[in-house]
Amino acid sequence: MTGATAGRDPAGRLAVEGRDPGRDERAAGREAASLLEVEGLTTVLHLPGGAARVVRNVSFEVASGETLGIVGESGCGKTMLALSLIGMAPHPPAGVVAGAARFRGDDLLALPVRALREVRGRDIGMIFQEPMTALNPLMTVGEQIAEVARRHLDLSPRAARGHSIEMLERVRVPDPDRRARSYPHELSGGMRQRAMIAAALVCDPAILIADEPTTALDVTIQSQILSLIADLQERLGMGVILITHDLGVIAETADRVMVMYAGRKVEEAPVAELFADPRHPYTRGLVESVPIVGRGRDLPLAEIAGTVPEAGEEPAGCAFASRCGRVEERCRREAPRFAERRGGPGSRGRRGWRGTACHNPWGGTA
Ligand SMILES: Nc1ncnc2c1ncn2[C@@H]1O[C@H](COP(=O)(O)OP(=O)(O)O)[C@@H](O)[C@H]1O
Ligand code: SF4
Ligand SMILES: [Mg+2]
Repeated sequence: MTGATAGRDPAGRLAVEGRDPGRDERAAGREAASLLEVEGLTTVLHLPGGAARVVRNVSFEVASGETLGIVGESGCGKTMLALSLIGMAPHPPAGVVAGAARFRGDDLLALPVRALREVRGRDIGMIFQEPMTALNPLMTVGEQIAEVARRHLDLSPRAARGHSIEMLERVRVPDPDRRARSYPHELSGGMRQRAMIAAALVCDPAILIADEPTTALDVTIQSQILSLIADLQERLGMGVILITHDLGVIAETADRVMVMYAGRKVEEAPVAELFADPRHPYTRGLVESVPIVGRGRDLPLAEIAGTVPEAGEEPAGCAFASRCGRVEERCRREAPRFAERRGGPGSRGRRGWRGTACHNPWGGTA
């Protein structure tokens, strides 16, 4: 876990209530149709020991201007989910075997490679944890951004160069003209991250997928990058999928949260409800393992004992059973189904529902 960010108090405790209040008002007023509808996405990884389902029957929606946070410990399938959506899961060993991801009338999972490549970069931007995986070390950052602009926006080389400097300015890179002529290794981690965000946003994408965009950065830069993404989202009305293992990042940025465990969605709720009333024992474990404002400074932090199942380990019943304090006999036999119900007081509109996949959730079954 990281230190003080805008979603935290000076002691580093989470302050979900302390979020930009305008953000929640805007979210409540937003009844936009979904931009992306993912249904039953299942990705298999072919390992020497056999096929492992690393993303299992995952469904969710994202609307314009909305941020969906995806959270879960390392190894829960978050990155595989994101890569599967944009056709970038390493193939082999990975392959999408079921599901649909509807975006502007197309199913991304069924698009031919070329068409998907067009969508990627133009309509859907992706930023990764490690900018060096996305940036070419042999080209200046300006050239790389200009190349995306030339390819998707049909700009002349000169216009594309101008556009790349504008983009660096937009992500608040100081002295963008000079920085555009730098190679990735000549920039600091924070500047590289900004350059990658600039490249992802060149075409004003409708959707931005950010996979642990700030994990490698120190807390001050982390906070700056998150507020930068929020500002750009506000300006462009993007739908954002923000993937992280850090609940502090979720508290600060997300409107809704989806919790993943062992490749499955185990809980989804509006952000304030998830923190106030986590229903799945795994979510509760995650929430209790971070300090939260108002919960008493002196309470020892709980940890979730045990570890995430490895890819390929497919226990019968609930995958969390071996770590769960609320396990019942039924849990070991039967995998729980995801069940939705209305959200709590204050949850409004079409997106107010919440749901969980658990036989014995906190607060009782729906
Ligand atoms: N290239 C790979 N080869 C083998 N296993 C992999 C590979 N990539 C991911 N995995 C496994 O797939 C599962 C999901 O991984 P990942 O999507 O990276 O999780 P997360 O992003 O939540 O940390 C994990 O069990 C991980 O070990
Ligand atoms: S289904 Fe059972 S084992 Fe799984 S999280 Fe719920 S109570 Fe725990
Ligand atoms: Mg990951």
